[in-house]
Amino acid sequence: MTLVDLHRLPRHVAIIMDGNGRWAQDQGRIRSIGHREGSRAVRRTVRAARRLGVDALTLFAFSEQNWHRPGPEVAALMELLREYLISEREELMENGIRLRAVGRVDKLPSSVRDVLDALVADTAHLDGMTLTLALSYGGREELVDAARALASEVAAGRLTPDAIDEAALEAHVPSVDVGRVDLLIRTGGEQRISNFLLWGAAYAELHFTPRLWPEFEAEDLYQAIRAFQSRQRRFGRVTTLHAEPEPISSAGE
Ligand code: IPE
Ligand code: IPE
Ligand code: MG
Repeated sequence: MTLVDLHRLPRHVAIIMDGNGRWAQDQGRIRSIGHREGSRAVRRTVRAARRLGVDALTLFAFSEQNWHRPGPEVAALMELLREYLISEREELMENGIRLRAVGRVDKLPSSVRDVLDALVADTAHLDGMTLTLALSYGGREELVDAARALASEVAAGRLTPDAIDEAALEAHVPSVDVGRVDLLIRTGGEQRISNFLLWGAAYAELHFTPRLWPEFEAEDLYQAIRAFQSRQRRFGRVTTLHAEPEPISSAGE
């Protein structure tokens, strides 16, 4: 087995944590049991990524579209999220992990918002790794919000339409604050993006695994990173580049 090359780590890893429901179903149990087991996999994965030295880990925990699931399942997911944020507080702080959230978090129940806001504030100064939870998140929704923000700047006379370039739009896309995605992993066997980081993942290397999220282990993360390290990233060019080039700003051209 080849080892992970620690000098060529993906800087920003994002994961679509899928397959909790099917895992529970396979055991003849209700879906929320799968979500509970899934939160253990989150703990393992955050630890493994931190130990490796990954800079940024973004986890798709709840999509904007997931609100349309049955009420009891949504309620169970919210309660698990609250429990996760409470139980992981010490470990995140001890390991220098900065927590962030992206998505329409104002839609989360206040019982979750309160612990989330407190942990985001209390870990804001940490720089060991940035853990971003995508909550009530949708890639299209995020781009709509960015378009609205730019339109307001234009309406206020602070920006001209000609000055809108990639960098200007990106400044309003919170999910790329920690950099564009290098490696996007999806568990659970489906091969789709499901409205995750549409902008930031434009040139991400994709890794799909049939492993159901509750069964995801550190070794699965290493495997995905080894696969990433075997790829050639070209970004439309002919040379092999390790990281995505910075957006070219048209300002001042
Ligand atoms: C992922 O697992 C967790 C969330 C979407 C919140 P699923 O609940 O989608 O599990 P499957 O895809 O039905 O197995
Ligand atoms: C994507 O999984 C959302 C999360 C992992 C939170 P879904 O299970 O909601 O996606 P679809 O429905 O299979 O596209
Ligand atoms: Mg699913």
